[in-house]
Amino acid sequence: MDDAGVDGRRSVGRDDGIASGDDAVDPPAAFRDRAVANDVGVYEAFETEGPDAWRRAADLLDWVSDYDRVLDDGDPPFYEWFTGGTLNAAANCVDRHLDERRNQLAIRWFGKRGERRSYTYLDLHREVNALAAGLRDLGVEEDDVVTLYLPMVPELPIAMLACARIGAPHNVVFAGLSAEALATRIDAADSEYLITCDGYYRREDAFNQKSKADNARLRIDGDLDATVVVDRLGDALDVTLGGDEHGYEAIVDAHDGATVEPVARNATDLLFVMYTSGTTGRPKGVEHATGGYLAHVAWTTRNVLDVRPDDTYWCAADIGWITGHSYGVYGPLATGTTTVLYEGSPDYPDRDRVWDLIERNAVSIFYTSPTAIRSFMKWGAEYPDSHDLSSLRLLGTVGESITPKAWRWYREHVGGGDAPIVDTWWQTETGAIALATLPGVSPMKPGKVGPPLPGIDARVVDEDGEPVDPGEPGFLTIASPWPGMLRGLREGDERYRREYWLEAEDGWRYRTGDGATVDEDGYVTILGRVDDVINVRAHRFNTGKLESVIVGADGVTEAAVVGDDGGKIVAYVTTRSGIEPDAALRETIGERLAASVGDVARPDRIVFTPELPKTRSGKIMRRLLEDIARGDEFGDISALRNPEVVGEIESAVRNG
Ligand code: WTA
Repeated sequence: MDDAGVDGRRSVGRDDGIASGDDAVDPPAAFRDRAVANDVGVYEAFETEGPDAWRRAADLLDWVSDYDRVLDDGDPPFYEWFTGGTLNAAANCVDRHLDERRNQLAIRWFGKRGERRSYTYLDLHREVNALAAGLRDLGVEEDDVVTLYLPMVPELPIAMLACARIGAPHNVVFAGLSAEALATRIDAADSEYLITCDGYYRREDAFNQKSKADNARLRIDGDLDATVVVDRLGDALDVTLGGDEHGYEAIVDAHDGATVEPVARNATDLLFVMYTSGTTGRPKGVEHATGGYLAHVAWTTRNVLDVRPDDTYWCAADIGWITGHSYGVYGPLATGTTTVLYEGSPDYPDRDRVWDLIERNAVSIFYTSPTAIRSFMKWGAEYPDSHDLSSLRLLGTVGESITPKAWRWYREHVGGGDAPIVDTWWQTETGAIALATLPGVSPMKPGKVGPPLPGIDARVVDEDGEPVDPGEPGFLTIASPWPGMLRGLREGDERYRREYWLEAEDGWRYRTGDGATVDEDGYVTILGRVDDVINVRAHRFNTGKLESVIVGADGVTEAAVVGDDGGKIVAYVTTRSGIEPDAALRETIGERLAASVGDVARPDRIVFTPELPKTRSGKIMRRLLEDIARGDEFGDISALRNPEVVGEIESAVRNG
């Protein structure tokens, strides 16, 4: 056990030594002894067996018919996993648990107004079947894409599972995105069905979601065949339904008790599409296949997050993003555990809401983001400290790098001082966790995500594709396929190949778009994106898209958008001469972003500056703007055409 991590390291190009050094923190022995994965042999198995070792992941699922091949890599980079096999994702998340745990809680939901609802696996089975039958009645057939535009209500996972049951891929659009963003995603996915709601609460106020959906409908190219509307707000908001609009509750009531045979899907058939920001302004529709995705998600839920059926597990991410798909819905339900679903905000009604929910539910595993942890730190340790959090035995983080300081705070004040923390690196495209320490196997290193998981051939390379030396920055790439990987892009094969793949002499390389370093022990540190994408508020934004929206405002000439290290969006904006930047212009910029992308895209800060710093070739020096936003030291600016502007920008930032 002590030399854990030895083999995880090989994949990043090192093959000696053990995870060590001052920065390594061992998992507590009591945790390790019970951990699902507590044997370094798992790395060896993957090394000796190659891709076939991923059988272990497929074995966690129920197959209707067994697969012939683990990996078909005959036509790279179009890889297919578990070919020949058929299965149904909803049956794996619901039906197969009925024998053993039909009365166990599957979902415990907490609404924004303090409402609670609980679903046993039997309840879940009943409602998923009823909705599946209802969707069929509305005309939804296998392979029809259904768009879901819902906040964090139980109807969202239920709708995902109902779609999966009938083989209709879902296309979840984060509820906070704008009508315009929804319309783009409906069109791009060729979706003719929509499930949305009347509205939801934002703090005290009832917010009308249906009117956003209506606006989207006016903008789409085609038309929707049917819309299903969940009544989230009851009397607080009345919406009138048109002829092709149906109340969710009425559908479920009318089909209560119906059973719909789960459709046997090929492992390679589409389970869902999820739009994400790419390196161009247009979102990319990432496609996930049923078998590989579910297998990888189930395997990591058990082996990385150490989730078991008797856990109460809470992934705080919104289901509108990939983390909520993989680790809020599919992973925990495929594992047969109890999962907490929370609609509200972490500071409402008070700043201890998260800790209150953990205590109330005796949550044993909690998975959140560094952005959230930073807020918790800012609010103060007295909030977690005033709750009994002793039920927690593992903590997770995802979405961006966590500083060693935040890591320690999280462990101290939330993890009782000794809970393991798994820092998990992955992407919408990887489908599931790809880099992380296995908490029962290897020591953790605060601030580093850890070695690649067994079976993930991640490498940090230079521009020529050669592995970099320890500590040297490079590009994070993955040199062989993995089961959770996207099967393609909605935009077609060519775009998929161009966006992600490079052909090297010895095979194809998946480009993650992240910069990274790797240490002597093979632990990877993520440096952030190397393209024009920023990660803030658990969302990937394309900076070019945000900038073009800002530049569309009257009087604005140029804009550069960066993320600061507090997870905030900072926009640097220049105006036409004669135009005085004022509060009204700030407001306009915020409104424009909210309308075209969604409220999540409103900048936290808008810094007006006479000029943007540019290189002699006219490129905006984004790194510098990032450093200024973060209050970091910045290096050499001699390459700038207009170095004099730097001082002005700094003082503009400092003075608000
Ligand atoms: C970043 C979220 C540092 C990274 C699951 C990646 C991270 C992007 C980590 C994907 C981590 C994710 N440490 N950075 N542990 N996890 N990232 O598609 O830049 O929303 O490329 O998927 O988030 O974001 P996405």
